[in-house]
Amino acid sequence: MLSGMKILIIGGGGREHAIAWRLSKDSCKPELYCAPGNAGTDSIAENLPISAEDIDSLTQWAICNKPDLTVVGPEVPLCLGITDIFEAEGLRVFGPCREAAKIEGSKRFSKEVMAAAGVPTARSLSFDNPDKAIDALESFGLPVVIKADGLAAGKGVIIAETKEKAVATIQSMLIDSQFGEAGAEVLIEEFLKGEEASILALIDGENALILPSSQDHKRAYDNDEGPNTGGMGAYSPAPVVTDELIPIIKESVIMPVIREMKKRGCPYKGVLYAGLMINEKGMNVLEFNARFGDPETEAVLPRIDGDIIPALEACIDGTLNDDLISVRKEAAVTIVMASEGYPGSYPKGIRITGLDQAAEIEGCTVFNAGTKIENGKVVTSGGRVLSVTAIGTDLKDAVEHAYQAVAKIDFKGAHYRKDIAFRAFNR
Ligand code: AMP
Ligand code: GLY
Repeated sequence: MLSGMKILIIGGGGREHAIAWRLSKDSCKPELYCAPGNAGTDSIAENLPISAEDIDSLTQWAICNKPDLTVVGPEVPLCLGITDIFEAEGLRVFGPCREAAKIEGSKRFSKEVMAAAGVPTARSLSFDNPDKAIDALESFGLPVVIKADGLAAGKGVIIAETKEKAVATIQSMLIDSQFGEAGAEVLIEEFLKGEEASILALIDGENALILPSSQDHKRAYDNDEGPNTGGMGAYSPAPVVTDELIPIIKESVIMPVIREMKKRGCPYKGVLYAGLMINEKGMNVLEFNARFGDPETEAVLPRIDGDIIPALEACIDGTLNDDLISVRKEAAVTIVMASEGYPGSYPKGIRITGLDQAAEIEGCTVFNAGTKIENGKVVTSGGRVLSVTAIGTDLKDAVEHAYQAVAKIDFKGAHYRKDIAFRAFNR
């Protein structure tokens, strides 16, 4: 292990604050840089005024400053090929290459991989012709799921309860280009019932290490009502992912994908996120992401004990093994505090108070997402503002402490769900 290791973290959300925070606890005490980071990363890393999507400026910075490791948070830089570009400069990157990141960047590609690998998933068909897509609706029943093929910042999935809504969605994507190029092709998919869970797996091209399970809360309001968001909270472990299910997920989902990606000449390295729908009949993959989930990361990383950098490096070197990560028994819960109006439009620049008092609550860490420092004060700068996280002896204890911390924090118009982890308690 290098001492004085220099690490660049790309991104500026709650996930990246959690990654930076976790890396800062490693025994080698790395020197951290975040591009662009946020008000939270500012106290543990040097924030760089470079957007996560400005590949040229990131590359220039990396060539000049030679980080020993770069950890990529969001999907866009991965899909733009940042790993390939950095590696061509002799730099080490945790994150898949452009071709492998297509598992998130193109839903059609992801479905092709799943079909070839025999991974259980909902039946689906892809179309670029609106008439053919509308004709195909008959064979799916209702509700039906319509997805933009490409990256749409989490907004490209519509669950249509009626045929009219399904037709309108297809037209808005294929004719009115609602999502631009990302919606130039649509996927029509069978609607699945069940409980969702997220599995994050570290992968070194050949082997996988399954990280603790988690569950996200995608809808804006309590009882899973309201519009879809990037995620309003998460908890880990997710009891729906039983101890018996974990090896099944590894053998029937993760390993077949690894083998298929290798066969295609684009071995998968980095973290693979499998979004699962689990019901009494079994389990299906809803989607793959080529990165850590947000806010799942804020609940999963605090549960990892000891050092994490050796496991990330092993993904690059092809030397991953289960002994590289040890997991704490305690549970963790993350509550997202969002701006007024989110996931619609929202104001920015609102002063946030109570962050220090919240951090004093036992087991609590406040990960920043859409925040920045203005005139020495922390203000809002995004839709999801904070990921308030607590670790506790069990989920109940963690939930209690996380809400105690939320109660200390104030910013005008803040909204958050009051029922994070409810599914774990209603089993
Ligand atoms: P995705 O980005 O593909 O994970 O979709 C976003 C959300 O839409 C998922 O987390 C689910 O809540 C929902 N969803 C996606 N596909 C399906 C499906 N086939 N059946 C039911 N819900 C789905
Ligand atoms: N929490 C969902 C995602 O990261 O895509």
